Amino acid sequence: MTDPGTVLTPHVQAAMAAAFGPEWREADPVIRPANKKQTSADLQVNAAMAAAKKVGKPPREVAAAIVEHLDAPELVESVEIAGPGFLNITLRDAWVAQAAQAQLADERLGLPTPPKETVVVDYSSVNAAKEMHVAHLRSAVVGDSLVRTLSALGHDVIRQNHLGDWGTSFGMLIEHLLEVGPDSDEAGLLESDPNAFYRGARSKFKAADEAEPAGSAGDFAVRSRKRVTLLQGGDAETLKYWHQIMDRTKVYLNRVYTELGVTLTDDDIAGESSYNDELAGVCDALEDKGIARISDGALCVFLDGYTGRDDQPVPLIIRKSDGGYGYATTDIATIRHRSLDLKADRALYVVGAPQNLHFRMCWEAADQAGWIQGTEPIHVQIGNVVGADGKILRTRSGDLVALQTLVDAALERAAEVVAESRADLPEDVRATIAHQVGIAAIKYSDLSVSHDSGYTFDLDRMIAFQGNTGPYLQYATARIRSILRRADAVETNGPIVVTEPAERALALKLLDYGSVVAAVGETLEPHRLAAYLFEVASTFTTFYEHCPVLKAEDNAVKDSRLALCALTLRVLVEGLDLLGIESPDQM
Ligand code: ARG
Repeated sequence: MTDPGTVLTPHVQAAMAAAFGPEWREADPVIRPANKKQTSADLQVNAAMAAAKKVGKPPREVAAAIVEHLDAPELVESVEIAGPGFLNITLRDAWVAQAAQAQLADERLGLPTPPKETVVVDYSSVNAAKEMHVAHLRSAVVGDSLVRTLSALGHDVIRQNHLGDWGTSFGMLIEHLLEVGPDSDEAGLLESDPNAFYRGARSKFKAADEAEPAGSAGDFAVRSRKRVTLLQGGDAETLKYWHQIMDRTKVYLNRVYTELGVTLTDDDIAGESSYNDELAGVCDALEDKGIARISDGALCVFLDGYTGRDDQPVPLIIRKSDGGYGYATTDIATIRHRSLDLKADRALYVVGAPQNLHFRMCWEAADQAGWIQGTEPIHVQIGNVVGADGKILRTRSGDLVALQTLVDAALERAAEVVAESRADLPEDVRATIAHQVGIAAIKYSDLSVSHDSGYTFDLDRMIAFQGNTGPYLQYATARIRSILRRADAVETNGPIVVTEPAERALALKLLDYGSVVAAVGETLEPHRLAAYLFEVASTFTTFYEHCPVLKAEDNAVKDSRLALCALTLRVLVEGLDLLGIESPDQM
């Protein structure tokens, strides 16, 4: 890893061991960026304050002893003991330059390789034959960014699209399909507007269910219920219709994933239906182990600490009184599979925040049964996207706003913006850029705030070329590309020298790339990477204002600055790629 804090760590540890004994060799030296308001130093080391009590000396004395033993002449220019006893460390320019040079030469740009894990990522996970809405969109965007980041860090990542592809609504969906005909335009809605198909089935079912006395309309409800039984019983013809619905659903999903640049494919589908054969066994085992018991005819798990309003225990129903299984049963089978079969070290569920209680109860039940071994299940909670009125985005009729509506709106705005900013470009080039910009605007606003907090969907702000937006970062990359093009440089590999403060600040910022990505891999918070890339772009702007590149005073300075430009470009482009955002050649 190239960041100075990581490089400095063993030196401080060695100094502590020399001063206070070998037990300090592994101590955390507590290194942070220096407080730029108080000092011009680069790093602050808080080890002395943390160690004072155990060492039995005042912190400033401990600090002095560390300084006395600190031996890192190539890295450290000067050390100053400040405040209650922290160390302000200024790094040597030559070290900064050489570290940036090494990062430029490194194919991995300084990304570390943490101990390899198997990580299952459950994301997107929409309900089949219904359209995705904003929470699904955000799950897809956040999940895909985590997948890209974890893969880049060298982990074995298993994507799972836990489609809602089973359950009672398929009775009415299949009956509706049979009535309209599998080759009809209506059935085609499954590919173009699945919500509309769903609504068609739903309104028939409702009308039939309420019809009194049950006439031919009432028939539809009766047939739908019968169809559910046939489906769950494995009736071959019913399964054929189910496959027809699922095949068309996949066409719809793949179109959306392609449009958004989400890396899910058919191979990643592991829907609810794939656990169907295990549900009876899950219920029997939980009952045998005494974890589940019959209550009011239903098989339920009661867990300590999960009580409702009236202090009554909340049951987790795993088999309804009519014998049907539910969402909880599937999720217990799911975590068992992810832990015992896939051997996940971490199992991520990138799903809306309201499902937290459901997951915690399912995992607790599975854990009691011994079905979670060496796996940490983690709910990566997705917060709401709200409209200007602060409420969850809904259409006038009260439905959640469909994903396609948002995407279309963003693409349309992006086309307008690019038509204005790059009227000089041919239409097809403009169309490509507009698509990249529109998708970046949506993805970046999903990713730049922490995944569990909500944000307001505001197209104008999201798509602006200024401010903390996806298009701003894309613009930064296009600008650097244009500098490099105008330089006509064959090679941009330095050597890097660091003399101006703005050069130094940029090089130091770039060196943090690896540790920021590693932190995202641990905390599962892509907004840290988004914030970092924004800082890189801003630091670059300051550099470019203060340090002429193409008009540099001599060739050596020019070569060095061009290399810094090239390194910045790579960090931005690869960082954006980890967020799932493309970088246009020109903007
Ligand atoms: N299909 C569910 C929904 O749309 C999300 C599924 C999340 N994953 C899971 N293993 N339960 O709300």
